[in-house]
Amino acid sequence: MNHKPESVNVTEKSIVILISGHGSNMRALLEANLPCRVAAVISNRADAPGLEIAKQYGITTRVVEHHGHPDRESFDTELSSCIDSYRPDLVVLAGFMRILTAHFVASYQNRLINIHPSLLPMYSGLNTHARALQDGVKIHGCTVHFVTSDVDQGPIIIQAAVPVLMDDTSATLAARVLHQEHRIFPQAIRWFCNDDISLNADGKVRIKGLEQLGRALISPEME
Ligand code: GRF
Repeated sequence: MNHKPESVNVTEKSIVILISGHGSNMRALLEANLPCRVAAVISNRADAPGLEIAKQYGITTRVVEHHGHPDRESFDTELSSCIDSYRPDLVVLAGFMRILTAHFVASYQNRLINIHPSLLPMYSGLNTHARALQDGVKIHGCTVHFVTSDVDQGPIIIQAAVPVLMDDTSATLAARVLHQEHRIFPQAIRWFCNDDISLNADGKVRIKGLEQLGRALISPEME
């Protein structure tokens, strides 16, 4: 991934990454040598540790705090103008913890993607790992999807499934899922940057030229 403006070539897409916290998914994107340029990392929290990581990679960082805005619309308006100043081809929500208004989402239709720590549509919303353990599911995972006005319900691009182990806690399960997040998120953005993603007539994602093995994940593993 080129961070130096002078090395931008005309076909290279540019992305803006939005964070709220640690930025481990953002770091995974920066490490993945993606065929795009990160124009900026924007956080709604000035104390987001991920901002320091972005600075270490020489990425422009901006803060648009949600505090001090009378409502979501005014925050989203300021956030949009910050994003649009970089004219990105893609806006990436990487651990961004704000619900965005329908108007904001509509202005980035099909170029706004998010990573969610569950196998959507199961466990949309918060506390996904604790809820999965509570339900006793044996397979859990993560999803990269286009963002629509229905929270956590947009077209799914890629998912990873992991086994839930008998002695899992929310923390051990979250760590196993996060490791897979760091694998599938860069893949989704690589497909986007290479124009390999399309939506078919019923709004489902198709990936161009993909060979699929169709292997099953069974949990608990059988002898
Ligand atoms: C991740 O589990 C992500 O799925 C969720 O926020 C968590 C932290 O992400 N949206 P990061 O470490 O800040 O990238």
